[in-house]
Amino acid sequence: MQVAVPQDQTRVPTTRRYLMCPPSFFAVEYVINPWMDPSQPVSVELAVQQWTELRDTYRRLGHTVEEIEAQPGLPDMVFAANSGTVVDGRVLGSRFRAPQRAAEAEHFRRWFVEHGYRDITMPEKINEAEGDFAWTGKLLLAGTGFRTDPAAHAEAQEALGVPVVSLRLIDPKFYHLDTALFVLSEATDAAPAQVVYYPQAFSPGSQRVLTKLFPDAVQATEADALCFGLNGVSDGRNVVLPVEATELGARLAERGYEPVYVDISELRKAGGGPKCCTMEIRK
Ligand code: ARG
Repeated sequence: MQVAVPQDQTRVPTTRRYLMCPPSFFAVEYVINPWMDPSQPVSVELAVQQWTELRDTYRRLGHTVEEIEAQPGLPDMVFAANSGTVVDGRVLGSRFRAPQRAAEAEHFRRWFVEHGYRDITMPEKINEAEGDFAWTGKLLLAGTGFRTDPAAHAEAQEALGVPVVSLRLIDPKFYHLDTALFVLSEATDAAPAQVVYYPQAFSPGSQRVLTKLFPDAVQATEADALCFGLNGVSDGRNVVLPVEATELGARLAERGYEPVYVDISELRKAGGGPKCCTMEIRK
């Protein structure tokens, strides 16, 4: 039987709401992932410039960007994705593994309270939020291995009331799920979710799970992964990627997506990219 593949794969973007924190106190002062090297100079000015460009890119694409105030002494607070997972208006806060980042969680909890959220759960287990959780529209993919405690996955399932699928990360360079996988388009009643990932970042069992769940996934190369290409942010059509991820961008374009490149070289010195800076607020 012949299956017709539409020539014109029109991807429809959906408007998103993001929460971001400017890198006003950005620094690399400690080492909690292999990308961080405190002997390398970093420029707050350049980080702010790159972050501003990322924020303005989202706004240009029609998305809403909320901002939380940066706090002195919390140089990694720019990585807002690590401080909350919001699905259907329910907020699951975070609990950091590194003591240097612990205080960030409370600032974000307060932001949600001040913005009218009432269904807020603060986790008991180590939980680095969207660093390790990816919402596909139907399932919450949950990473573990370096940061988020596997017991936090069950906690997330209870707090958010959505099915959670655990995935094991095995390469310290890809210490968060969002350095190895992201959702290109969410599942709808008409179509399954589409994801892109770097298979080698996952254990053999988790690779098999990903193949079963997403037979049509885009598999990224090592080069795509090493420049934080898997730390992209998609609205279902436009895919914000680090400027170096051109190979991945080309493959996504073949599938009807629109790569939108940003320079995040300064933020990458702390081990972060576009997604790390971007928490999605789903209602
Ligand atoms: N320096 C930060 C850390 O290691 C970077 C966090 C990046 N965030 C992310 N969602 N992967 O915790």
